[in-house]
Amino acid sequence: MQGSHVQSVSPATLSRPVLGIESSCDDTAAAILAPDGTVLAEGVLSQTAHIAFGGVVPEIAARAHLAHLPGLVADVMAQAGLGYGDLACIAATTGPGLIGGLIVGSGFAKGAALAHGLPFVAVNHLEAHALTARLPELGLGAEFPYLLLLVSGGHCQCIAVEGIGQHTRLGGTIDDAAGEAFDKVAKLLGLGWPGGPALEKLATEGNPAAFPFPRPLFGRPGCDFSFSGLKTSVAQTIATFPPGALPRQTAADIAASFQITVARVIADRAGHAMAMFVERHPHAARLLVVAGGVAANTAIRIALLHACTQQGFRFAAPPLKYCTDNAVMVAWTGLERLRLGLVDNMNVAPRPRWPLAELAR
Ligand code: KG4
Ligand code: ZN
Repeated sequence: MQGSHVQSVSPATLSRPVLGIESSCDDTAAAILAPDGTVLAEGVLSQTAHIAFGGVVPEIAARAHLAHLPGLVADVMAQAGLGYGDLACIAATTGPGLIGGLIVGSGFAKGAALAHGLPFVAVNHLEAHALTARLPELGLGAEFPYLLLLVSGGHCQCIAVEGIGQHTRLGGTIDDAAGEAFDKVAKLLGLGWPGGPALEKLATEGNPAAFPFPRPLFGRPGCDFSFSGLKTSVAQTIATFPPGALPRQTAADIAASFQITVARVIADRAGHAMAMFVERHPHAARLLVVAGGVAANTAIRIALLHACTQQGFRFAAPPLKYCTDNAVMVAWTGLERLRLGLVDNMNVAPRPRWPLAELAR
């Protein structure tokens, strides 16, 4: 059988730590959590080889995961002072993401689990982002259900997080992810990769009202996103200057105008998502949690805070290291699933596409 199934897990097993592994994109990460969710050890190796290519190269990423994962796992085990025999289970991101990295991470986890007689938990990367807010040390009080806005380089969606394996996607991007839009515009402006932080820095010198860029889907019903028309508009503006002759001040004005446009669009879509969430869960606490690298952006945070105030929602942003890809979220998801006895067979295959709607519980 492929997919999660329920198995009885002994109290002795539940009193042991969990190892989590993340390798779905360009971060190789491993972490160990105590049974109560306390982080005992964590490590992330962010791959820098992609900078020269202006984006993640899947083949390079897979090889780097293969080269670094065994050493990283050994490091976190040593940091925590544990051996495999001390663990409750091994959890690994099994999708969605780049297939090469998923094969490396989940293959390593399955091999180690098999060798040491441990259960294997296949973790959906989106569920891991979604459940991070429940990590005890964050103290966010994220009881089910709550609303998650995931804005990263690969994902842009609003999710009602309703339980383990129970998530409703309220809306998402119909073209680019928000981070992808930042990266593409940054590239057009001649900034390095990843573009988000560089663009935010340049925007501090610019006038956000200089260019009235289009706001895709702004004010429309629902909470879908679209960024490709905005990116095209920025490209057309830049193309009015001869190659290499964009004045720095104009570049800064474009960066600031683009950023404020994205912030307003995201806040508008999140506002709609909050209304949809309340309609679905009228008696639930009103909490919006953000995740993903784009959540680092100050203009976007301010716009979201404003939208939350308007909708009567509490706004929670986990520390950046838990917003971006990490293995603590994978270990935590493994722990939450193990507590329910949800484990996976060894024949579960990595899935480049794995929508939350198809998450077996
Ligand atoms: O979550 P993340 O680290 O990786 C995945 O995509 O999974 O997100 C990376 C994305 C990149 O597209 C990057 O440009 C964007 O987040 N990002 C930002 C900022 N910092 C990172 N975008 C806007 N402003 C930032 N300060
Ligand atoms: Zn991610």
